[in-house]
Amino acid sequence: MRLDKFLANSGVGTRKEVKELLKKRLIKVNDEIVKDGKIHVNENEDTVKYKDEIISYKKFVYIMLNKPNGVISATEDKIHKTVIDLLGDEYRTFEVFPVGRLDIDTEGLLLLTNDGVLSHNLLSPNKHVDKKYYVELEKLLTETDIAKLENGVELKDFTTKDAKVEIIENGEESDKIRVYITISEGKFHQVKRMFKAVGNEVKYLKRVKMGTLSLDENLKLGEYRELTEDELTKLKENF
Ligand code: URA
Repeated sequence: MRLDKFLANSGVGTRKEVKELLKKRLIKVNDEIVKDGKIHVNENEDTVKYKDEIISYKKFVYIMLNKPNGVISATEDKIHKTVIDLLGDEYRTFEVFPVGRLDIDTEGLLLLTNDGVLSHNLLSPNKHVDKKYYVELEKLLTETDIAKLENGVELKDFTTKDAKVEIIENGEESDKIRVYITISEGKFHQVKRMFKAVGNEVKYLKRVKMGTLSLDENLKLGEYRELTEDELTKLKENF
């Protein structure tokens, strides 16, 4: 791979910053100063140093984003801002993509990575990875509605698998009807369609958990951070 990509992917700097570092003769490959970022290095064989410190190559990156409303879960779009547009320049060279989709108006946990294997595992229908959503609803939920949602509701094209509903607020006196729902599937508009099928309407939807990964409450809408080692290990453990 190109040396400038190697350096940018290893967190040394953005491509632009890397160019400067090369110009300043701060980069060595196998103990030779290199000024040309276009040369190719082998991440398994060559030793790359920045200011005489060995740089270890980072191939994959795993980012937790608190997705805001109005941004789409895609890598490119002609009209809307995408989740990729929210990332800083230091992530440009990784070519990350969102793991699955949240609707444009859905907020919350979205994992961005360039690790195709993890993404595939998390999204595969055979792996049944749980997704937990915080939901605000238009109307009260009855016991019958809850039973239907939990045991499978019939939608136009399929019947949903078992789900779990946890009530936060569902009383006449509450000004909001708020629940969590956990589903193991991820079909198009699934949560909204499930509540519609029991005569209700989702007013606000936010994903709070995917597999073992919980949304970091310190992340404001639009903010992101890389996963910790522990989060990543736990997330991969089930596959
Ligand atoms: N279900 C929905 O209806 N929308 C989402 O964005 C995610 C799950």
